[in-house]
Amino acid sequence: MTPPATEIRDIFNRIAPVYDQLNNWLSLGQHKIWKLMAVKWSGAKPGNICLDLCCGSGDIAQLVAKKVGNTGKVYGVDFSSAQLGIAKTRAESHYPPLSINWIEADVLNLPWDDNYFDSATMGYGLRNVTDIPRCLQELYRVLKPGAKAAILDFNHPTQETIRTFQQWYLDNIVVPTAKSFGLTEEYAYIAPSLDRFPTGQQQLELAHQAGFTTATHYPIAAGMMGVLVLSKG
Ligand SMILES: C[S@@+](CC[C@H](N)C(=O)[O-])C[C@H]1O[C@@H](n2cnc3c(N)ncnc32)[C@H](O)[C@@H]1O
Repeated sequence: MTPPATEIRDIFNRIAPVYDQLNNWLSLGQHKIWKLMAVKWSGAKPGNICLDLCCGSGDIAQLVAKKVGNTGKVYGVDFSSAQLGIAKTRAESHYPPLSINWIEADVLNLPWDDNYFDSATMGYGLRNVTDIPRCLQELYRVLKPGAKAAILDFNHPTQETIRTFQQWYLDNIVVPTAKSFGLTEEYAYIAPSLDRFPTGQQQLELAHQAGFTTATHYPIAAGMMGVLVLSKG
């Protein structure tokens, strides 16, 4: 069963101080490459107004901000104040300054009018929201016609050997590493959240139901991660 939103928010508030360090170790730095791919597939361009959903400590929002330049604008949205605090501090030390606004809000109720954004990204957020169809509907609503979105997350590998490796890695590397930071429970939630997470094919169906005309799911990292690329109209 999906935990309530308040519990998810508390988890991300607690892990905020070590989140980036753990991500780097646990993915052997690979998450940076996967995030760059998602940003590229979102189609963000100079001068665009872009949305990064579930921005966490803000690394994807920073990558998008570099694409849109100082004529564009990026809005990073998250409901964890601790993650947003880190995102803000990290971005402030960037030179040249990045055009990012950090917004504390629930991505299931986005505080923007319809048809506002030129593109959107989301990294490891969709698996964590309590209502995936609602999240996709909100995303669809705030994108301009013709705009694209790229959603990166864990994936269900189709190959049995890769699936076994992924499970072994989560159980034997991720959880023990998190344990050394006193965060066992916080990282043990990844495996059950992945079990509940729709497959690439199911994500395509949900995207079409939300209104997206074009949806493609790209398995990456030997199928252990996936990027859902969506287009509105
Ligand atoms: C695994 S982190 C991902 C952070 C970052 N995007 C990344 O790729 O590293 C998931 C983030 O989603 C946020 N989140 C989960 N559900 C949310 C919701 N309904 N509204 C806003 N933020 C949410 C959490 O607070 C957390 O910071």
